[in-house]
Amino acid sequence: MTYPIEQIRADFPILNEKIRNKPLVYLDNAASCQKPQAVIDSMVKLYSHDYANVHRGVHTLSIRSTDQMESARHKIKTFINAASDKEIIFVRGATEAVNLIAQTYGRANIHAGDEILITAMEHHSNIVPWQMLCEQTGAILKVAPMNVAGELLMDEFEQLLSAKTKLVAVVHMSNALGTLNPVEQIIALAHAKNIPVMLDGAQAIPHTAVDVQKLDCDFYVFSGHKLYGPSGVGVLYGKQALLEAMPPYQGGGDMIRTVSFEKSTYAGLPYKFEAGTPAIAEIIGLGAAVDYLNTIGMQAIADHEASLLAYATQQALQIDGLKIIGEAKEKGAILSFTLGRIHPHDIGTMLDSLGIAIRAGHHCAMPVMDFYQLPATARASFAMYNTKAEIDVLISGIKNLIEMFG
Ligand code: ALA
Repeated sequence: MTYPIEQIRADFPILNEKIRNKPLVYLDNAASCQKPQAVIDSMVKLYSHDYANVHRGVHTLSIRSTDQMESARHKIKTFINAASDKEIIFVRGATEAVNLIAQTYGRANIHAGDEILITAMEHHSNIVPWQMLCEQTGAILKVAPMNVAGELLMDEFEQLLSAKTKLVAVVHMSNALGTLNPVEQIIALAHAKNIPVMLDGAQAIPHTAVDVQKLDCDFYVFSGHKLYGPSGVGVLYGKQALLEAMPPYQGGGDMIRTVSFEKSTYAGLPYKFEAGTPAIAEIIGLGAAVDYLNTIGMQAIADHEASLLAYATQQALQIDGLKIIGEAKEKGAILSFTLGRIHPHDIGTMLDSLGIAIRAGHHCAMPVMDFYQLPATARASFAMYNTKAEIDVLISGIKNLIEMFG
């Protein structure tokens, strides 16, 4: 079947915007994706007709909101093929999910002298929570190295797994380089030593089908806003037995079974980890995003983006002075680059004047920038609605820029 690119583009109203009198070319998808009308409509409908607090009321609106929220949980469970709705915990985003694991699973199971193994290409959100845990417990953070292409050195990774390693926490797809890590191999190596594995799927999940049972990962975390859903909502998937054994994260309403001044007892999964009123509309919006993605199919999206990346890479390689940062053989739809002495912020600003949105900076991955001895890169990141014609606009914009800067 032909990829329905025209229909998809028509489903995202913001793509009709003009930026500085030019058609918007939105290539900052790794930072946040745009939203289809179906997601916007689901939230407008909720607030217009069905909204009330969830899990608390016996009245009609509360029941409607609760049903829609729990239906979103079920859709997400099916989307990632979790074994049960109880394994889907709603959080604010991937960042909160990693912090939750560090402060619950980590505080309970990781002690002085134990090790947590991450990689050289992690986002700050999969570094800093572990550093905080290490400061609290005396545990040690180990970092598996990568080569200049941005690929993990798997022999060294394996050597870093020891009896002291209590958790492996690895990014599925790097936001700064695009590298898709060999997560099946990582999980097999870690599990051979009975070490649980957490995958940071914030970047991978919009680009590839994720089956948590097939992967056999112990935790998988992602954000809604990178998956064409709203910001302010994300998902922590965890195997039920692990989640059952973990202490709660935040205390408050909805996560309790009984409360007295002497002692409180906690609710079962998933509510034990969902204190307070959740992001009701955002969760329902994320459910609508998953419905939308299912109508297109993750394989079709992955194939479309692979062809965009191949085309962009081939065009970029023909530009004198452009250096691609991140050349892993297995890569998602991210093109990070530098243009000699032209600062990435100038690249971003100049491209914006042509209606092109890219990101320039350290991409919340300062250790990756240190590895390449760069202050920053420019990054174009592609999504299901991008086209080769938009890549042509980007490439011609870059060529103009090089001419201007001489
Ligand atoms: N982590 C997001 C990015 O890569 C914000 O841009």
